[in-house]
Amino acid sequence: MAKTQRQYVCQSCGSVSPKWSGKCDGCNEWNTYVEEVANDTVPKGLSRGKGRMVEFVDLAGTSEKPPRTNTDFSEFDRVTGGGLVAGSAILIGGDPGIGKSTILLQVTCQLSKKLRCAYISGEEAVDQVRLRAARLGLDKSPVDLASATNIRDIITTMESGQYDLVIIDSIQTMYLDNLDSAPGTVSQVRASAAELIRVAKKRGITLFLVGHVTKEGQIAGPRVLEHMVDTVLYFEGDRGHQFRILRAVKNRFGPTDEIGVFEMQDKGLVEVLNPSEMFLAQRQKDIAGSAVLAAMEGTRPVLVEIQALVSPSSLGTPRRAVIGWDNNRLSMILAVLEARCGLQIGMNDVYLNVAGGLRISEPAADLAVAVALISALSGVAVPADTVVFGEIGLSGEVRNVSQAQARFKEASKLGFSRAIMPELPNKGKKSGISGADQANIKLMDVKHLNEVIPLFSE
Ligand code: TYD
Ligand code: MG
Repeated sequence: MAKTQRQYVCQSCGSVSPKWSGKCDGCNEWNTYVEEVANDTVPKGLSRGKGRMVEFVDLAGTSEKPPRTNTDFSEFDRVTGGGLVAGSAILIGGDPGIGKSTILLQVTCQLSKKLRCAYISGEEAVDQVRLRAARLGLDKSPVDLASATNIRDIITTMESGQYDLVIIDSIQTMYLDNLDSAPGTVSQVRASAAELIRVAKKRGITLFLVGHVTKEGQIAGPRVLEHMVDTVLYFEGDRGHQFRILRAVKNRFGPTDEIGVFEMQDKGLVEVLNPSEMFLAQRQKDIAGSAVLAAMEGTRPVLVEIQALVSPSSLGTPRRAVIGWDNNRLSMILAVLEARCGLQIGMNDVYLNVAGGLRISEPAADLAVAVALISALSGVAVPADTVVFGEIGLSGEVRNVSQAQARFKEASKLGFSRAIMPELPNKGKKSGISGADQANIKLMDVKHLNEVIPLFSE
């Protein structure tokens, strides 16, 4: 009898090792290896026999654009690239309790007017989902609801051809009965998803898979599925805030980096059509340490407040805490401010916060962070009508960023009248941007961080 092969699979990144170890070699996470029975289905090698020559076609073809179904949630459609494509698989990941089930229920009920929809919950009992639907006022929608976890049953249901849209909430509760591993392990999650996606493609069903992001590595996270699906959406946000951000990180049918902004209310998730207004709603004007960044999220400009606090440290190693931005980038900006501009930050604790719970990743935030820090250090507030954007290099130079026009437009729309920003290209010709594009914004262009400091000296 063949010996059963044991192997250890990292529950975070899926890498396989014959030996257990505390730290995964693949992703450097600790304590993520879990013993699983090796899958016997992996072929050992090709048996003899001739294959067929692969057929090739030209790049230019007559493939039609895939038909799309709008969800009538404009923020949702924006993130998916203009609606759902039949036969595509969409993974929606996020922390537990962030609102994945809620948004999917809302979207499904909306779509049930046009498509035949099945909502399969492996986490909640039918009554719980019904209760939520009633609370959202959606209980009259013609959605078929079931509580099931066996992939074999779900596949049979999908094969019946009765549905155009299937929601699996969540993939971590699903299992294939011919695999030994427990539901939620990497093998189960991968194999279950592969089966579901195969049938969805064959039958032209739009498939939503919900996946929880887990830090402890107890359950396989959505990361291990990212390569299998067509679209990966992450639902982000602070549970302390009402704002939720749906972000596309992969999309075979549209752009990535678009965000959709929602607000969690007692009647479910409500779209926020003007995020800048929302992010700036609670801004305190004339307080030192706050700067408004004109950021781009995909194709949409968004204004957010960057807050910095600098205070003398009582610790041996001063604290650097960041919420909503990259820690390493903050260290870089602090180093540039010290080394190139002669500011003394050294023994101070530095706290940085992107207000409203948004996560900013673009380099254009550098200058806004620097301005917030300079303002916090000097105690001089940034004028309330000023927006800031620009990238900072290691020598302290302020570099240009893309889409200045869009940023100006949004700033002007919200009543801002000045911008601290990099010098625009083609300045000789009185900037590459026409007066109309500039939209009544007075430009204060800077080439080096040194030029910013005098603006905030007492
Ligand atoms: P849920 O969709 O169950 O999260 P997930 O599926 O991502 O785990 O969201 C649960 C949270 O949302 C819960 O804490 C309550 C909150 N909520 C509201 O605030 N308003 C509502 O109308 C609903 C349905 C949920
Ligand atoms: Mg849920």
